[in-house]
Amino acid sequence: MENFEYYNPVKVVFGEGVLNQVGTYAAAYGKKAMLVTYTECDFFAETIEAIYESLEKAGVSCIVFKGVTANPRTSQAKRGVELCKENDIDLLIGLGGGSVIDCTKVIAAGVFYEHDIAKMLMLSHSDVTAIPPTKALPYIAIPTLAGTGSEMNPIGVVTDDASGQKSYVWEPGCLYAKAAIMDPTLTTGLPPYQTACGGIDIVAHVMEAYINGDPDTNLTLHNRMQEGVMRATFEALEQVWENPGDVQARGVMMWAATVALNGWMTSGTFGFTPMHQMGHVLSARYNATHGATLTCMMISWMKYFETRSDNQKYVMLAENVFGCSLHEAWQKLEKLAIAKGVQTRISEFGATEADLDSLTDEVVSVSFGPDGLLNGHPKMSREDIYQCYKLAL
Ligand SMILES: [Fe+2]
Repeated sequence: MENFEYYNPVKVVFGEGVLNQVGTYAAAYGKKAMLVTYTECDFFAETIEAIYESLEKAGVSCIVFKGVTANPRTSQAKRGVELCKENDIDLLIGLGGGSVIDCTKVIAAGVFYEHDIAKMLMLSHSDVTAIPPTKALPYIAIPTLAGTGSEMNPIGVVTDDASGQKSYVWEPGCLYAKAAIMDPTLTTGLPPYQTACGGIDIVAHVMEAYINGDPDTNLTLHNRMQEGVMRATFEALEQVWENPGDVQARGVMMWAATVALNGWMTSGTFGFTPMHQMGHVLSARYNATHGATLTCMMISWMKYFETRSDNQKYVMLAENVFGCSLHEAWQKLEKLAIAKGVQTRISEFGATEADLDSLTDEVVSVSFGPDGLLNGHPKMSREDIYQCYKLAL
């Protein structure tokens, strides 16, 4: 295990019915809140009503910014910042999936940021020109989809309008939520497609740490924790297919999403995320759903390693999580995705063979290290990435 520091200040309030406590937590941070949510959010009408009621009881006024879409953009964050300044907002409340919570973080930091918001984004992992934010408005995260785990980490992923690149700000100094209000009943109405995409996202966060992180195939706490979270996620998905209103299973998924990306799975390992890097490029170009891009890349990544000799970790993953061979594991994944209408081929987003070079180049420009390789175990070359995209066509 590598040496590590761990710090996570987010207060988690978890369980059925906790939504009505939002006012109590909000009141600790001010009197004027702005609720950040999706452009189209009719399905949240009752939830927003409940939040208003709780805030009102606690003496907190609230305006709503319905300005965030999937794959949020810096222009949306800028509009949010303007509204905060115009209305003298004390705190933000992000209600939605990862797109909303990520954008809420960028707005929170943008209020105090002296540069163009795009400047806080790391446009490559070795980007030394990015200027991290140093201060942000307090915010409360209310996730409505189990997937990104954004509610308990200091990462915001947005797409820069100018460059078209989907990238991230990561700032533990000011971007953690003050509280995450996690009510699994908010996810019981999610359609199978979104549920499956969220589930794959959870698994991808853990799987990437598992296969690209610590190369140890012996008994380690990380390996067993990671296998447990992935198995629990797949088991909960099965239960949710049977009964979408199963609050226990929805709760397992919600908490699995949080622990997948709050540092518990990755502290002491190297957290490399090549599937995410390849997926982000697809999302930015085709506006493809995050979990769907990961489904395509996860399948092709496993296929690719089926042909390599340095695939011990992949074989262990297949045995301990999927209970089968590596070949059967990606087939199981493909079957699960197709059954829920999730794309398994990047051609379904519109990608053709002619696009593979430029897609690969974008991964190289954002994610490759100075040694000309993509970090991980093993390190991957440009040709490896190209082949993974090709297998996903
Ligand atoms: Fe993700």
